[in-house]
Amino acid sequence: MGVITLRSDSERRRRATAALQRLRPVVAEEAEHELGRAEAVGFLARLDLWFLDLHGPLEALYGDDDGPDGQDVLVGRLVRLALAAAADRPTELRETDRRREVEPRWYQEPRTVGYVAYTDRFCGTLDALPKRLDYLSELGVSYLHLMPLLKPRPGENDGGYAVMDYRAVDPRIGTMDDLEAAARALRERGMSLCVDLVLNHTAREHPWAKAWLAGDPAYADFYFAFHDRNMPDAYEATISDVFPDRAPGSFTWVGTARGGRGAWVWTTFFGYQWDLNYANPNVFAAVLETVLWLANRGIEIFRMDAVPFMWKRLGTSCMNQPEVHDLMQAMHALVKMAAPATIFKAEAIVSPEDLVPYLGGHARYRPECELAYHNQLMVMLWSSLATRDARLAVQSLRRMATIPVDTAWATYVRCHDDIGWAVSDTDAWAVGWSPVAHRRFLNDFYAGTYPMSHARGALFQDDPETGDARISGSCAALCGISEARERGDEAALEAGIRRHVLLHAVTFAWGGVPLLYMGDELALDNDLSYLDDPALAEDNRWMHRPWFDAEAAARRDDPATVEGRVFGWIQRLAQVRRELPALHAAGESELLAVDDPHVLAWRRRHPRSGHFVALVNFADHPVSVDVRAWEGLGELGTVLSADGDLQVDDGRAQLPGLGFVWLAEA
Ligand code: GLC
Repeated sequence: MGVITLRSDSERRRRATAALQRLRPVVAEEAEHELGRAEAVGFLARLDLWFLDLHGPLEALYGDDDGPDGQDVLVGRLVRLALAAAADRPTELRETDRRREVEPRWYQEPRTVGYVAYTDRFCGTLDALPKRLDYLSELGVSYLHLMPLLKPRPGENDGGYAVMDYRAVDPRIGTMDDLEAAARALRERGMSLCVDLVLNHTAREHPWAKAWLAGDPAYADFYFAFHDRNMPDAYEATISDVFPDRAPGSFTWVGTARGGRGAWVWTTFFGYQWDLNYANPNVFAAVLETVLWLANRGIEIFRMDAVPFMWKRLGTSCMNQPEVHDLMQAMHALVKMAAPATIFKAEAIVSPEDLVPYLGGHARYRPECELAYHNQLMVMLWSSLATRDARLAVQSLRRMATIPVDTAWATYVRCHDDIGWAVSDTDAWAVGWSPVAHRRFLNDFYAGTYPMSHARGALFQDDPETGDARISGSCAALCGISEARERGDEAALEAGIRRHVLLHAVTFAWGGVPLLYMGDELALDNDLSYLDDPALAEDNRWMHRPWFDAEAAARRDDPATVEGRVFGWIQRLAQVRRELPALHAAGESELLAVDDPHVLAWRRRHPRSGHFVALVNFADHPVSVDVRAWEGLGELGTVLSADGDLQVDDGRAQLPGLGFVWLAEA
């Protein structure tokens, strides 16, 4: 390892080419021996294809690797891990690889629809999953994200985000064999399995953590330890707390560290989640081996948990550091060499400026994650719904950079986490709103304390010191469905359902992969049963992580019920979406100018499609917008709408209250 130098593109390329030339003949021989001729040809083609994306980032992270005698130690070691994984890859997964190599951008197809569920809450145990696949097929789902399922620490575990064994499944839901069988059952249906990879931290009970504590030299520097408060205080001066009310600070005193002398260990999240030190290449190698092993069990999509936090730098927020992107690029390149069917989804709940780079959108495109959560769209939907005003959404979404053509947004209305009001001050002021007052309003509105609010959510991590808070609550509770049901108010219920459908009509037509969050297809209410479990009771995010309600599901075909109506809408959104080439993720969305502040309108087009236009009205009352300037609207027909064909009178499109419409060229 040498000194880290900043290099120009051509210099990076020249160094990578030279390293590849040194490494390739040896690897070629080993590959042929390990994989046989035909597979070795494939592996080497992938090595050639991805080497630049591996070599540059590794040198940026860990310094020059060619050493005095040109040994390429680290890169050689990592490529061999990829080769070993390629050799272990089961035949049926190699078949998936072949198909994905033919259609590498499969996730961009409009037929892709995701569903997100906790295994235990959705179907009890993994071996019961096949019985639920018809249900998912009814919804048009082609991608299933099973929430954290690797073996967590006992007791409190942050919803499974504190893993003590990445090679075992949580025994309460099954075994690794069950997981492989579930992945197979999904593949047979043309569905892909997505699983969380918690890679910023391990549980303190993980064997790496234990070996590190015990002073095992192989695990030296796997975590961070500071003997006094000097460095922790210096870092904390610029770090914001993730869980200010339950886990303030980013360090936890561990008496058994440093041979019993004790140390402050880096714990960004809860005290039992110990941050890994990626400045140590052995950590990178250990995590890579884990990912490759899991990919060979049949996981196709890794949800890269909490990626922004993976690199620390004094004087910064310790988020979104350039090295985080180097780590992702290098890991991505290596996984693509071994298991080309695999893709990454970034969980980076950060500002729009910081988000696009996780999709490889840097000054130069550098392949990184194929998918990333469109947190900004999600936040803007809830903000627009509360204010009945789309101007802030238009302002902030318009400012976002275009994403690389190979990638896609994961668009969503709700997920298992709270909603944090990522409203930038610049955007709020640009529409004339005080950012602080607006965020406060959103919290009051969704917590249900604002006068006349229809929402029944709750504040999460309310921090009286900073005035910051976030929101928990199910989609139905936040849309007013729960409150209307409580009061038996039919008109309010109708409005609540229209809000719920409207939000999904955006996420299914924005472009990208819509993710449906378990229970929302049935408009399930908040689930307060978590209060009875002491390990969960303190974390109100559990209120929107409901248990599958079989009785509610049984009503899904009855259009006279709320469940039937909402389920039917979600089905239609998925069905219509799959027939619309403009919704292919490689198309581009463009926000359209409208003369009514309640309306969000956008146009999409893919090189193989005609135009697609969507309009949504966040107001409860009917509005109209001038569409005379929108070229070609006349050739567009209504393909789906809350209220029948779009009426255009005197050049003005008429939108009923809380209505949406999708239009497309025939
Ligand atoms: C992610 C998860 C969240 C968890 C955190 C720590 O943000 O979505 O639920 O608390 O990571 O792993």
